[in-house]
Amino acid sequence: MNGKHALVIGGTGMLKDVSLWFADNGFVVSVIGRGKSKHEDMKESSLHPELINSLMVDYKSQLLLKDYVRSAIEKYGPISIVVSWTPFLPSIELIDHIVSEKSQSWKLYQIKGSRRYFEDGSLKLSSNCIHRNIYLGFVINNDTSRWLTNKEIANGVIKSIEEECSESIIGVLHPYEKRPGY
Ligand SMILES: NC(=O)c1ccc[n+]([C@@H]2O[C@H](COP(=O)([O-])OP(=O)(O)OC[C@H]3O[C@@H](n4cnc5c(N)ncnc54)[C@H](OP(=O)(O)O)[C@@H]3O)[C@@H](O)[C@H]2O)c1
Repeated sequence: MNGKHALVIGGTGMLKDVSLWFADNGFVVSVIGRGKSKHEDMKESSLHPELINSLMVDYKSQLLLKDYVRSAIEKYGPISIVVSWTPFLPSIELIDHIVSEKSQSWKLYQIKGSRRYFEDGSLKLSSNCIHRNIYLGFVINNDTSRWLTNKEIANGVIKSIEEECSESIIGVLHPYEKRPGY
């Protein structure tokens, strides 16, 4: 064990490259997602599959989630970074509680859709947790606009972690009425 342990909630979808990036950088990365085949695909794309710890659990099942995350910490050590893509805030609060039991100080990068920038909800977190917001915007090309690609999202998240931004926006959020399909 190398002592670097990250957790990615919803890390087999658009954040797959973020999960892989952690492993490439020597982290053990615990990845939450329900689908077995998505975990298998991710490990197949990795140069370090042994550093990927798949947590095949529904993050809405609080008891199971608690067991899975506690076991990951017992096996791979305290978690120093959590990247979260879930709208289900009780799962983030539960993970905060479990991670904070073993980590003095750790960072939570909470990824949020563009609407949350304007209507943010409240999250109760412990004082050990350094909370960072990453908002997903859209891309404007001349008179049209489009949503971000998975690659743009993953690269933006990695940049935000590397630069330790307290808040970042991937793409743009303004003018809001220019967002795709508006
Ligand atoms: N502003 C933007 O441009 C923007 C914003 C948001 C999304 N998008 C795009 O929309 C696409 C779809 O978004 P998406 O929200 O479906 O994201 P996604 O990243 O494709 O999928 C969600 C991730 O969370 C996991 N997950 C979902 N529900 C779960 C649960 N109950 N328990 C545990 N894990 C769970 C999924 O795996 P399992 O399903 O296997 O559990 C997967 O790893 C993305 O590919 C992205 O490019 C764009």
